Amino acid sequence: MILLTGGAGYIGLHTAAVLLEAGHEVVLFDNFSNSKPPGVERLQAIAGRPVVCVQGDVRSAQDMDAVFGRYPVDAVIHFAGLKAVAESEQQPLRYYDNNIGGTLVLLQAMTRAGVKRIVFSSSATVYGEPDSSPVAETAALRPANVYGRSKRMAEDILRDLHVAAPDWSIALLRYFNPVGAHPGGLIGEDPNGIPNNLMPFVTQVAVGRRPELQVFGGDYATADGTGVRDYIHVMDLAEGHQAALEWALGDPREVLTANLGSGRGHSVLDLVRAFEQASGRTIPCRIVARRPGDVAACWCDPALARQRLGWTARRTLQDMCRDAWNWQRNNPDGFG
Ligand code: NAD
Ligand code: UD1
Repeated sequence: MILLTGGAGYIGLHTAAVLLEAGHEVVLFDNFSNSKPPGVERLQAIAGRPVVCVQGDVRSAQDMDAVFGRYPVDAVIHFAGLKAVAESEQQPLRYYDNNIGGTLVLLQAMTRAGVKRIVFSSSATVYGEPDSSPVAETAALRPANVYGRSKRMAEDILRDLHVAAPDWSIALLRYFNPVGAHPGGLIGEDPNGIPNNLMPFVTQVAVGRRPELQVFGGDYATADGTGVRDYIHVMDLAEGHQAALEWALGDPREVLTANLGSGRGHSVLDLVRAFEQASGRTIPCRIVARRPGDVAACWCDPALARQRLGWTARRTLQDMCRDAWNWQRNNPDGFG
């Protein structure tokens, strides 16, 4: 059985759908601080069978011990954490408490339970402003905000753990920009409040929840002047987790650090155009000042994940836009 902490969140639900489809048994664990129970009901509809979801907090040793005591967990995928960059700068202690405190309590509970396989949600944000793109895993780690530092620290903790306990199998997955939704339109990204990220903002403009997209900066040194990122379909990302999980279940007893991205860069205007094509809707755009902390361009070298995990992102920007739109159109208010 696979334990997914933060399993009711955006990436957790999509990964659970892929794992269930592949025949794995999963148990979701979530405190619903940034997700809603109807997401789990939708997952059950996709899977066509009941899915166990335990409400609890990864910072509670009691909650964690209860899960490991009750379910025969073979491996953990650790999604639970907070992820909003600006909020992390305003509330550093809350972010370190959740992202570092939660990881420590989880690892201690795994140690007590004798579970030694973990796949960890890291982020491209650990690279900060890269010297150049594509970014390989060997690039310098210079996270530029509290959220990014919390991810680097959690990676450090897992690397240190492996030095002391070399029989653990640990995958550190650095995601680039996950977007899109399950093709069935039952699950997708449902951010609270005003979206920070580009794709959910675009889809909310398309359904009329927001009047226009503000494009943050039109004077970057990129082909069209707008920021370039490595967008990855959330279903590709979910399949990347499946590959990493299967790697860990083989007990390789090492730490594997892998970028999960498409290896392609797309500008803000590329994404807007692809979305307009996929949806048939016009997205009013206005170019405004750059967003502080943004880099001009960042995309990854995905070769290591291909070589070590046999995984590669297959879906196109058009697929990402079509599925994001299908989700938003069918669920204008998300999970409600
Ligand atoms: P999400 O907020 O949708 O999912 C995270 C889930 O964790 C939520 O359901 C939340 O309720 C839960 N959670 C938070 N703190 C918890 C706690 N203390 N105990 C139990 N549950 C808790 O976010 P997501 O986009 O699915 O991201 C999943 C992971 O991937 C996060 O660790 C995030 O930092 C990382 N990541 C996300 C992105 C992205 O763009 N979405 C990019 C890189 C890395
Ligand atoms: C952000 C986070 C990063 C996180 C990633 C994926 C910051 C500084 N970084 O990265 O830590 O891992 O999300 O979740 O927040 N844009 C607009 N208008 C908008 C929103 C975005 O023009 O309303 C532009 C941005 O300037 C950027 C691109 O769209 O060029 C993508 O932005 P976003 O989706 O927020 O992702 P990142 O900034 O790459």
